[in-house]
Amino acid sequence: MRKKVSIVGSGNVGATAAHWIASKELADVVLIDIIEGVPQGKGLDLLEAMPIEKRDSHVLGTNDYADTANSEIVVITAGIPRKPGMSRDDLLNTNYKIMSDVVSKAIQHSPDCILIVVSNPLDAMAQAAYKLSKFPRERVIGMAGVLDSARFRTFIAEELNVSVENVTAFVLGGHGDTMVPLTRYSTVAGIPVTELMEPKRLESLVQRTRDGGAEIVKYLKTGSAYYAPSAAVAEMVEAILKDKKKILPCAAYLDGEYGIKGLYVGVPVKLGAKGIEQIMEIKLTSEEKAALNKSADAVKELVAVIGV
Ligand code: LAC
Repeated sequence: MRKKVSIVGSGNVGATAAHWIASKELADVVLIDIIEGVPQGKGLDLLEAMPIEKRDSHVLGTNDYADTANSEIVVITAGIPRKPGMSRDDLLNTNYKIMSDVVSKAIQHSPDCILIVVSNPLDAMAQAAYKLSKFPRERVIGMAGVLDSARFRTFIAEELNVSVENVTAFVLGGHGDTMVPLTRYSTVAGIPVTELMEPKRLESLVQRTRDGGAEIVKYLKTGSAYYAPSAAVAEMVEAILKDKKKILPCAAYLDGEYGIKGLYVGVPVKLGAKGIEQIMEIKLTSEEKAALNKSADAVKELVAVIGV
């Protein structure tokens, strides 16, 4: 039987995630939104691309949560995006309201699903989904680290003129201005990037990574990034559906790991069929630890505002 992935929100992130997932034939896709017509139109359009792509993924656009029933994974992209000058945190209250509505409807029809949260501010929304769903923490995962790391990898590959395939990188912490790109653990064909680049140059790539979302918002003016965010979702979906046990940086609920308790923060996790199968605790220097704590504090402030 084919796997089923539902995507809540038929905006650019949701629709493009549907595109990647269907075109990789990872699962049948249900695209759902409260707006009438848009999910149906985009879903049908994508379905009609499948003969050309030679893929048998089925795609359905709908306004009815009954169509999402028994999804293996529900990806939540619903929410308002940033406008230029706004921070992700400015979206907090509006997107929390949307999250409350979406989570209750989604889990009613897919009580055993894994939730992947994409809405911003990411870590707080993941925490909201975790508390609202009452799911075990393995089944509520926030997407941010894969995106932030992909941005960092892109900049490193461009700077050194090497294949993106050679570059691995880790970005930890919250998906915000305080995120922590870990240069020590970033490598090019196994060589630490710290040995290939001057510290000053590397620091500028780190800063560009932190500002990566805002850089795109500034260009687009009416929305935020979607190709890379949705590709990141597809990588997480693939790791889960194929039980790959893939180590990826994701927002996870920490229960004492890294000395942080009761909070969603980006850390390396092992993704497989059960969702988060392990939280990888890597050794951090005191400086890195301080940066991670600062990032966690920023998430804590948001979480306190919405009381989750
Ligand atoms: C970004 C938004 C999606 O980083 O958070 O582009």
